[in-house]
Amino acid sequence: MIDSHCHLADEVFETTLDEVIARARRAGVDGALCMLDATNPDEASRSVRVAALWPAVRFAVGVHPHQAGVFSDRLDDVEAHVRAAVSARPGTCAIGEIGLDYHYDYAPRDVQREVFRRQIQVASELGHPIVIHTREADDDTFAMLGDVGAPAVPGVFHCFTGDAATAQRAVDLGFHVSFSGIVSFRTAEAIREAAAAVPQDRLLVETDSPYLAPVPYRGKLNEPAWVVRVAEVVAEVRGQSLVEVQAQTTATFDALFRPGRTS
Ligand code: NI
Repeated sequence: MIDSHCHLADEVFETTLDEVIARARRAGVDGALCMLDATNPDEASRSVRVAALWPAVRFAVGVHPHQAGVFSDRLDDVEAHVRAAVSARPGTCAIGEIGLDYHYDYAPRDVQREVFRRQIQVASELGHPIVIHTREADDDTFAMLGDVGAPAVPGVFHCFTGDAATAQRAVDLGFHVSFSGIVSFRTAEAIREAAAAVPQDRLLVETDSPYLAPVPYRGKLNEPAWVVRVAEVVAEVRGQSLVEVQAQTTATFDALFRPGRTS
C-alpha cells in the first residue's frame, strides 16, 4: 500500500531514515508521496537520500501556506520559483502541499490566497495534481478551486478533518479526500463518518508523518509504516477488509499521481 502524504525529508528523520524506510517496507508499504517545501533548500538536499534509499517514493513540491509570506514583496516570483523547484527534483508528480491556513495565519491571508492561486496555475500548466492543505479556510479554499475551473486541476484534500458534507463538497468538485491518523482519535466521530462516505475511487490514506501518529502510537514520532493503522480504521468504518482498502487506495493513488507526468 501507499502512504499518500509524508515528510520523509524532514530533519527529524535524518539519522533514522534507513530504519524508517525499512520498517515501512516490512509493514507492506511499498511507496509514498513525500512533500517538499519549495522554500527549504535543506529539505531539497535531504530528498536526494530519500530517493536513493526508497526509489518508489514520489515527490510533491510546493510553497506551504505557512511559508507564503516569503513571497509577500515578490508575488510575481512564485511561479518561476515553484517551477525551478519541480525541475530540480526528479520524481515530482504533484504540486503541494499548497493551500490556506487561517488557524495559524503565519502569512497574511491575501498573500496566502495569491500564492495558492499562482501555484494552482503552475500545476495546471505542468499537468500535475495538487495536494491541498486547508485549515479553518474551507469556504475560501472551495471558492478558489471553483474559480480556476475545477476539476481541470485534479488533486487531494490532504489530512481531511471535515465532516461528511464537506467531504462530499470536495468530491463534487472532482477532488480526492485523504485521511490521516486523526481518523483514529477518540473524538473524531465526524471524520470517521466522512471516511465511511467517500467514494472508493476518491479515497486515500496518509500518515502526514512525522506529525499526527495514529492511536495507539499517539505522542510518538509518526512514520510511514503506520499508514497501515490508518487504513485499518478506515476499513473498519467502511465495513471493508484491510486488504480491500489497501488495494483500492493504492490503485487510486497510482491513477492520481502518475509518475510519467513530467514537468
Ligand atoms: Ni503535510
